Order: sequence, then C-alpha cells, then structure tokens
Amino acid sequence: MRSILLLNAKGGCGKTTLATHIAAYYALQGKRVVLADFDPLGSSMDWLAARPAGRPRIRGLAAWQNTIRVPKNTDYLIIDSPAGVSGRPLANLVQRADSILIPVLPSPLDIRAAEHFIGQLNALRKVLDIQVKLATVANRVEENTLAAGDLGDYLEMIKLPSGKQVPYLALLRASQNYIRAAESGLSIFEFSPSRTQYDRACWSRVFSWLDSKRSLPATSA
Ligand SMILES: Nc1ncnc2c1ncn2[C@@H]1O[C@H](COP(=O)(O)OP(=O)(O)O)[C@@H](O)[C@H]1O
Ligand SMILES: [Mg+2]
Repeated sequence: MRSILLLNAKGGCGKTTLATHIAAYYALQGKRVVLADFDPLGSSMDWLAARPAGRPRIRGLAAWQNTIRVPKNTDYLIIDSPAGVSGRPLANLVQRADSILIPVLPSPLDIRAAEHFIGQLNALRKVLDIQVKLATVANRVEENTLAAGDLGDYLEMIKLPSGKQVPYLALLRASQNYIRAAESGLSIFEFSPSRTQYDRACWSRVFSWLDSKRSLPATSA
C-alpha cells in the first residue's frame, strides 16, 4: 500500500485540495483508495459526502475521531492533515507516510511559515533516516506575479538534512476549477478536458514523482 500525506502547518494552503485530487486521480485509475481525514474540520469528508453517486469510489475515514483501520486490500492511503500540527502529533502523522507533499502558497508569510515548518520536519528521525520522502507543490499561484517568482525561487532552494534538494514538483495556478471541484465532490480530472487541460498538465510531475521510486523511502538493507 502506498501512503501519501498532505502536510503543512499553515491552513488554507491546499492540503485538502491536493488530498482529494490525488484520491480521485487514483480512484479513476481503478485503484482502491482510502482518504483518511485527520482534520477535525472534516473538509475531505465533506468533499466525499458531496461526491456524486456513480463516480469511482473513494472510501473515507474520519481519522480525527476514530482510530483508523485501513482495509487490507487498499492500494492508496491518502492522508489529509489539520493546520497547526507540530510536536508529537506531527511525528505521529509522518509515521504513517511513505511520501509527503507540502503545498505552499505564494505570500511572504506563507513562505516564512513553510521554512519554519520544513525545519521542524527535517529534525524528525524518520526524515533524517530517509524513511519518508518529501516534495513541495506551489499552489494557488497567480501566474507571472512577483509572489509567484519568489515562491518558485524559495521552493527550488529547500534542502533535506542530507543537503539534497527537496523536489519542487509543480505550480498549480489559482483556478475556479478547484473551487468547483471542492464544492461538487469532484476533481479537475473529472471535468471536461477542454476546460481543465492546462490544470491537468500542471499535475504531471506530481504523479510521475508519486509513481516513481523517487517518492519511496530507501529500503533498509
Ligand atoms: N489552486 C487553487 N485555485 C483556487 N482555489 C484553491 C486552489 N487551491 C485551494 N483552493 C481553495 O482554497 C481554500 C483552501 O484550500 P484547502 O485545500 O482547503 O487548504 P487546507 O486544506 O490546507 O486548509 C479552499 O476553498 C480551496 O477550494
Ligand atoms: Mg484542509
């Protein structure tokens, strides 16, 4: 089972948007997908509740209130997380993941918060031991703005404890498509291709990373 965690202590950066999109993408491929929501706000569960009948199935787990039992035959466990997570709860979430995607918004405040947060992540034993892989995604970017450029420059510089770069996978633009998706229990991958072609293309490096060994922990010899 692949386990993918959406993480960033900052609220509103796109954790739920990315979690629901990754869940829908793999469900559309016929994979058995579980979406576990660790945020007491339950946004991922609200999205699932709005999902129209007949769409590829995604099983939801309200993980903030129950101990989660992930069905044995699950192909993908997608974990959505709350804002403000640090300390022991942060380590516990990281413990569940093979791969961590960190969405970051283009604002000086968000960039500073991400810097602080990635510093915290880099101090965790599991990250130091490369038993989990990290990558970043710029989200809700107004293209060709100064803030977009600053965010790109920053994300290209983030380093792991080893000194290697944290892969910066994608720039997702600010788009009504994501707002519509959030409201309707759908993903941009389920809207008409003509309307979403640009946004779909932005995701390609996210999925090529997730589908490659680069997103998997080093196997212990
Ligand atoms: N790329 C985007 N374009 C437009 N709206 C977005 C985009 N990403 C997220 N949003 C919207 O921004 C808000 C916060 O995103 P969300 O995924 O809920 O963040 P988080 O889960 O980190 O708090 C939501 O209303 C969501 O629909
Ligand atoms: Mg959320």
